[in-house]
Amino acid sequence: MKTVKDFTAEEKLRLLCGVGSWYTEDFGGKLPRIRMSDGPVGLRTTQPNAHGGQDTIPAIAYPCVQVLANTWDNACARKAGECLAEDCIERDVDLLLAPGVNIKRSPYCGRNFEYFSEDPLLAGTLAREYIAGLQGKGIGACLKHFLANNLEYDRFHQSSEIDERTLREIYYKPFEIACEAKPVSIMCSYNRVNGVYASENKKGFRVLRDEFGFDGAIISDWDAVRDRTAAARAGLDLEMPFCQKSYEKFVADYRAGKITEEEIDQCAERMLALVNRLQDMKKKRKIAMTVEERREAGKHIAAEGAVLLKNNGVLPLKKGAKISLCGSCVRYGNRDFAAGGGSSQVNWLDPVFDLPAQLGKRTGGKVLFEAAFRFDNIDSYRQNTVAAVRNAALSDVNVVCVCTGTGVEKEGSDRATLRLPVVQERIIAETSAQNPNTVVVIFAGAPVDTSAWENRVAAILYAGFTGMGGDEVVAKLLTGELNPCGKLSETFQTENALPDFHFVSGVTRYREGLDVGYRYYSSNRLPVLYPFGFGLSYSSFEYSALQLKTKGHSLEASYEIENTSARDGKEISQIYVRPCAPFVYRPDRELKGYSKNGVAAGKKVRVTVELDVSAFAYWSTATDGLQADDGLYEIAVGASSEDLRLRAFLELKDGKLSIADR
Ligand code: BGC
Repeated sequence: MKTVKDFTAEEKLRLLCGVGSWYTEDFGGKLPRIRMSDGPVGLRTTQPNAHGGQDTIPAIAYPCVQVLANTWDNACARKAGECLAEDCIERDVDLLLAPGVNIKRSPYCGRNFEYFSEDPLLAGTLAREYIAGLQGKGIGACLKHFLANNLEYDRFHQSSEIDERTLREIYYKPFEIACEAKPVSIMCSYNRVNGVYASENKKGFRVLRDEFGFDGAIISDWDAVRDRTAAARAGLDLEMPFCQKSYEKFVADYRAGKITEEEIDQCAERMLALVNRLQDMKKKRKIAMTVEERREAGKHIAAEGAVLLKNNGVLPLKKGAKISLCGSCVRYGNRDFAAGGGSSQVNWLDPVFDLPAQLGKRTGGKVLFEAAFRFDNIDSYRQNTVAAVRNAALSDVNVVCVCTGTGVEKEGSDRATLRLPVVQERIIAETSAQNPNTVVVIFAGAPVDTSAWENRVAAILYAGFTGMGGDEVVAKLLTGELNPCGKLSETFQTENALPDFHFVSGVTRYREGLDVGYRYYSSNRLPVLYPFGFGLSYSSFEYSALQLKTKGHSLEASYEIENTSARDGKEISQIYVRPCAPFVYRPDRELKGYSKNGVAAGKKVRVTVELDVSAFAYWSTATDGLQADDGLYEIAVGASSEDLRLRAFLELKDGKLSIADR
């Protein structure tokens, strides 16, 4: 095994700068090289084409990370990691540039489809499982983007200005939790954090290594390094991709004594450790699933993550029903309209997406399909739009498929609006005026403001960016072959009721502090469109019999969930903690645990969720540590953040928990 002693100072500098876009230096075979690839929702490896350019090699497109988060299912996250690991093994990729755990502070962020949640516990836990799945099969993870890259606008410059407590409780938190899975690397972000470029965030890197137990290498986002020497001195180990100018300056700085050999050695040691660790992990690499099985796993995640937002009973569709269906995204150009864009965009291995056919197969009835519109354009032939309206009038049920897509949700820019394009809202209005049984299916990667039309329609299914096979999954969900069971991992709010995101030329002040997402709405008692944690099902569930058991520093909350319907289903229940008389400001409620359980029709299950004393703690800037104050706490079990079904109280005294009788 090579150590820093085997390399000259110049060689070590070279090791700290990549090779091309996707490799590390191998010194002509002296060291194994590392091959990297994006990204969270499918592999994006490239190969040279005949014209001197690069083609993206087709790969399985899995559901986007938002859909994965809407599953609230740790097993799904682990499976996603395992599937991607096998894709990596097939393409000889050692390190996957994923997952991203940036908090969804603003629903406008163009990359939210790549991220998990507005809640740090949910984001961190699912990311931890994803990493465990990936690394368990011998592929390294690269947890990203550290830190506070929560908007794309001006991402190379803007400074995210955040107080220490908020950083700790909200923005560091998902990284902290994900670090429990020991990711081999972390990627810094482009932006500045409290003025300092994320590639030079010495304090942040120290927190990762000294407090979160991170023992891997820190890699720059692509072209995020401003000053290679300053970044190395702060603890950034690898600059990606290779940049000749930056490398030359790095060498010159070293020769001028601006960085010491000891400082270089620290980074080089971590790079060698990364190379060795990935070499070692190769032993675990084994393909256990066929491509078909991985595709099935992707479909399973899409099904578990679809969220039924509204249903007046029109769904599931009845057998033999005559259906009118419109929206070009479900038949043509799905890769553009039902996926996000940028570095995570996948060249779909199987581009066939045919909801009309899938629906027809399942209902056994007639499906009248008219594309009618493409994103923000009515179909070039006006008569097609007229035909869609006519079809709606003459059908039992009218299904309108709306979308955002790669032009709207993408890296490098943010969404201009949370509303759908005018054309899509108009088609909903025109067709629903003909047929009250109108169902809207949304293909997007982030919240959509449905307020302009939701009262006009009978049902809304948020399918998300489903990835390949989403046509089959949506058809099965609409017809009831599958029972929707996903819940929202972020709040859906009307555009005019969003908080102010405090963006002032190059500086974003996170003035809302801890009150991100549902924390803001619940603390301020503000109504939302669809709350965090919300999702309907074809089953109905009742909650009862909450019991708390304390075991010194930890708590076991258990309760019953009864499926009061005639359909087997799954329910995601959530535990929120509220300090009743806090010594410092605390959000009104915070998610501290969750569980997803299958419950057979008419049956009951007892669900148990464990919390430890840190669930009651906050970050104290006075003691620079976690602090759980004595006092009374409410434990609420909810079907969403706004639908708390069961409550009980706990007393914390001298670090010990006891049950407070009512
Ligand atoms: C993105 C990263 C990505 C990298 C490599 C950057 O633009 O921010 O998330 O991994 O490119 O494609």
